[in-house]
Amino acid sequence: MAPSPSMDSKSWDVISFAVDKGHGVKGLADLGLETLPKQYVQPPEEQITNSTVVTDDSIPVIDLSNWTDPKVAEQICHAAEKWGFFQIVNHGIPIEVLEDVKEATRRFFDLPAEQKNKHSKDNSPTNNVRYGTSFTPKAEKALEWKDFLSLFYASDDEAAAQWPSACRNEALDFMKKSEFAIRRLMEALMKGLNVKEIDGTKESLLMGSKRINLNYYPKCPEPELTVGVGRHSDVSTLTILLQDDIGGLYVKKLDSDSWVHVPPINGAIVINVGDALQILSNGRYKSIEHRVIANGIKNRISVPIFVNPRPSDAIGPLPEVLEGGEKPIYKKVLYSDYVKHFFRKAHDGKETVDFAKI
Ligand code: OGA
Ligand code: NI
Repeated sequence: MAPSPSMDSKSWDVISFAVDKGHGVKGLADLGLETLPKQYVQPPEEQITNSTVVTDDSIPVIDLSNWTDPKVAEQICHAAEKWGFFQIVNHGIPIEVLEDVKEATRRFFDLPAEQKNKHSKDNSPTNNVRYGTSFTPKAEKALEWKDFLSLFYASDDEAAAQWPSACRNEALDFMKKSEFAIRRLMEALMKGLNVKEIDGTKESLLMGSKRINLNYYPKCPEPELTVGVGRHSDVSTLTILLQDDIGGLYVKKLDSDSWVHVPPINGAIVINVGDALQILSNGRYKSIEHRVIANGIKNRISVPIFVNPRPSDAIGPLPEVLEGGEKPIYKKVLYSDYVKHFFRKAHDGKETVDFAKI
């Protein structure tokens, strides 16, 4: 039976409609539901309330126009140590590239469910392309109000053959045009760890593979009862995130229980340290918990690029970091095992990194 807005969520199978048939939360939003289906109601401790949000503090905004200036490198390292999150402006990625990938994201999610669902876990002919909703519906007690398309970059030819045509070129272009800024950021961060140059081994560990996600957070009934994305840290070395002008991303302040909002800045890119870089730096750079609120008025999109080690790399504290006698707090783990561990469970804050703790 086709659901109608007048039916409550008990009388039809929300999971089958949103998850299995691929309508996603966008499909639910398009029905014009007035109440949130119970499957999306998060426990009270995960709901985002004003009492945990601080308004008098914000993550650094770093101007990259003089990227050869040692002061800029210092700002980058300082932000990675104290916040794990910052925004960059004058990063060299043309504004049209950013606008185009946002437009392409809307185009993809506006496709009929049957077309998007060709790329679901069950239907996609390749593991490198994955359309889905929430995070790991099978492992979650409560679902998250988000749909996504996740694209692992293997090669241009593979992307041309497998990535959905609605967004392929724009996603590839954003990846390519961000390479310069990513390299400059990595060079600065490595300098701060006493690593003199990024040789082939380091190149693989720091940026050997990439994944781009297109995230869609449709307007949500009763948004205060759920989340767009629950508390988590990323498993990347660095994440490069483009967000639209809606807002809703919150970042945990280091060593506190308060959260700060990441305000949308036109043309800026949000950068955050992921678990892999926290491990490589032996805890110097911080992979910080973050989450996204659901919005009751507007649809929101974001486009993160996850810069990762290669799946076959072993990650552990870099020798340069331990040179002066610092004790390692992480052991070496295979990156593909680390990522598997992350995707086996629901979002659970910072717990993934325990997998690599000594
Ligand atoms: C993520 C994430 C934040 C956002 O995809 O890992 O944290 O603003 N996204 O969408
Ligand atoms: Ni994230």
